[in-house]
Amino acid sequence: MMDIDSLNSELADASPRKIIKTALEQFDHIAISFSGAEDVALIAMAHSLKKPFSVFTLDTGRLHPETYRFVEKVRQAYDLDLEILFPDAQAVQDLVNSKGLFSFYEDGHEECCGIRKVEPLRRKLSGLDAWITGQRKDQSPDTRNDVPVVQQDTAFEGRNGPLVKFNPMANWSSKDVWDYIRAMEVPYNELHDRGFVSIGCEPCTRPILPGQHEREGRWWWEEATKKECGLHSGNMIASSSAE
Ligand code: ADX
Ligand code: SF4
Repeated sequence: MMDIDSLNSELADASPRKIIKTALEQFDHIAISFSGAEDVALIAMAHSLKKPFSVFTLDTGRLHPETYRFVEKVRQAYDLDLEILFPDAQAVQDLVNSKGLFSFYEDGHEECCGIRKVEPLRRKLSGLDAWITGQRKDQSPDTRNDVPVVQQDTAFEGRNGPLVKFNPMANWSSKDVWDYIRAMEVPYNELHDRGFVSIGCEPCTRPILPGQHEREGRWWWEEATKKECGLHSGNMIASSSAE
């Protein structure tokens, strides 16, 4: 069994590219989770290593048309081994037929995110030993301040039980990511040119104004401390126990 704490200290100051390299070397059953936003930098870095790697995207059915186009553009640009994951059709049908298409504005995003994102993610992760995300500390002062570079994922189980989660960008700022995207001429989602910073599903994402924090563009009708959709619910456990 791998010692995650020592790997985390070893990689604490490493570059995101080095963290991705180590992750891909250590695990055969590992994949990058790609949301169709600036986490494309993970893919560009992995691609630059010139070794095979897998990517998956959770298609909630509610993404912006621009995001679908972008995901496809990235798939082609990097000749990706990309898996698009769909939610359980019956569960989506039951939800929207009983509560309508926008129930999350009334009773919160957990139920819809649970069906459209968390369940498909759980299914995917059950076949892996590790996954790589684009989470950063600076994405949410309320929930992501303590995101480490490597952690045990306490919210999901892998192929043989324990699952390792790599967050190679944890210590990068938004500016670092965008400097990289520009310098390396990495393709990006065109919504970023229209004031969108953090991008998720269309009904739950809006552009932000200068001076607003990026997380204010997500689930804006909810409290800042609730703005995790369940993909990274370990953050909520960590931030609530720190209170
Ligand atoms: S979320 O939990 O609020 O939706 P966020 O948009 O900040 O997550 O993205 C953080 C990381 O979670 C992304 O870099 C990506 O690794 C993963 N992620 C988020 N949404 C998706 C998605 N639809 N498909 C795959 N991975 C995703
Ligand atoms: Fe549903 Fe919004 Fe969550 Fe997307 S972000 S799965 S539309 S609640």
